[in-house]
Amino acid sequence: MTEYNVERIREDFPILKSKMNGHLLAYLDNAATSQRPNQVIDSVTSFYREYNANVHRGIYSISERATEAYEESKLKVSKFINSESIKEIIYTRNTTESINLVALGKGSECIGKDDHILITMMEHHSNIVPWQLLAKRTKGILDYVGLDTNGSGLDMENVKEMLEKEPKIVSISHVSNILGTINDVKEISKLAHKHGALVVVDGAQSVPHIKIDVKEIKCDFLAFSGHKMLAPSGIGVLYGREEILEEMEPVIGGGDMIRTVGMHDATWNDLPWKFEAGTPNIEGGIGMGAAIDYLGRLGMENIEAYERKLTEHAIAKMKNIPGLRIYGITDGANIGRIGVVSFTIEGIHPHDLASILDNDGIAIRAGHNCAMPLVRQILNNNAVARMSFYIYNTIEEVDRAVESLERAVAIFKRQGG
Ligand code: ALA
Repeated sequence: MTEYNVERIREDFPILKSKMNGHLLAYLDNAATSQRPNQVIDSVTSFYREYNANVHRGIYSISERATEAYEESKLKVSKFINSESIKEIIYTRNTTESINLVALGKGSECIGKDDHILITMMEHHSNIVPWQLLAKRTKGILDYVGLDTNGSGLDMENVKEMLEKEPKIVSISHVSNILGTINDVKEISKLAHKHGALVVVDGAQSVPHIKIDVKEIKCDFLAFSGHKMLAPSGIGVLYGREEILEEMEPVIGGGDMIRTVGMHDATWNDLPWKFEAGTPNIEGGIGMGAAIDYLGRLGMENIEAYERKLTEHAIAKMKNIPGLRIYGITDGANIGRIGVVSFTIEGIHPHDLASILDNDGIAIRAGHNCAMPLVRQILNNNAVARMSFYIYNTIEEVDRAVESLERAVAIFKRQGG
């Protein structure tokens, strides 16, 4: 695709023609979940209509077709993030489950009493709670890297200081779901490896929006979710380096993950199936393949450039609203951030802002947005409002949201709020 044609793209998303509260839906909550194009919806319905069967089991044609489509989707994921092979691609339910799998598997193997685990102040709950649980279980110690003085990036000096504690695991978000900041995971990975740590990257907010190459980042694990990148809900990915996955014990036992089962012992299937017990989310996997095809046709570089344009436009306009404060990088070309824009307006609760925008047909998120430690630290409060963009959003939708925010300010001013 040479020219980015957003109107053409919107044609593929039936929900974008629908109304919310009497207005054409402007969906600006893409960091929570994305919408799905016909191509993904059709891939799921055609599975159910034409070849619904279990995978890896049946010696009959529709089961073979289902297996092929499901496994082929892993090959697409593998190429999408430039992993070595599908052995490194484990399907899970979502980012949360992927990180838990690392914590329960590798984490339980390498963290003992007084061993350090390093995360950052920028994490989503899915990259905090699994490590809290692991630290409690093993009597390990959970440390945090702090934010820089602007509160929009990680303090890289602090990264170096914290690495002196020789953590066994370093787990960091690639892109903050509150600030939109793109963290330098390649550099952190390099520094962490010098200290012998395993590096886990939470790619939930990066993989859908920017080109990812695990060989370039050199992380040991990368976790991400399908539902934020056009795929169905309930399908997620854990990428893990083959050597590490080979030696890691399975976490969940059952069918499909075994080679042989005796009365008191079992041996394991090959990678990646060793980590996929039970009947998987077959339609989710197939839909994931269709989603990756769709993103691939658009080109991740084109997506990144288009979303940057939307973000710059949004930030420039939002800066003119009295009392509005944006959290995260707001100057220059916004190179170091993606289109997740969290903000507050003095004197108006974020939930009120979201309700006013909802009345105007605009969907945004408000609250702690699953990152309580960060939201508490940057705001000394529990809530932000957040707009987040994806491939099908338009400048007009951004303008509608800004006008709606201006109306909110006017309403509250009239009310003396
Ligand atoms: N992680 C999702 C969000 O940030 C749910 O909204």
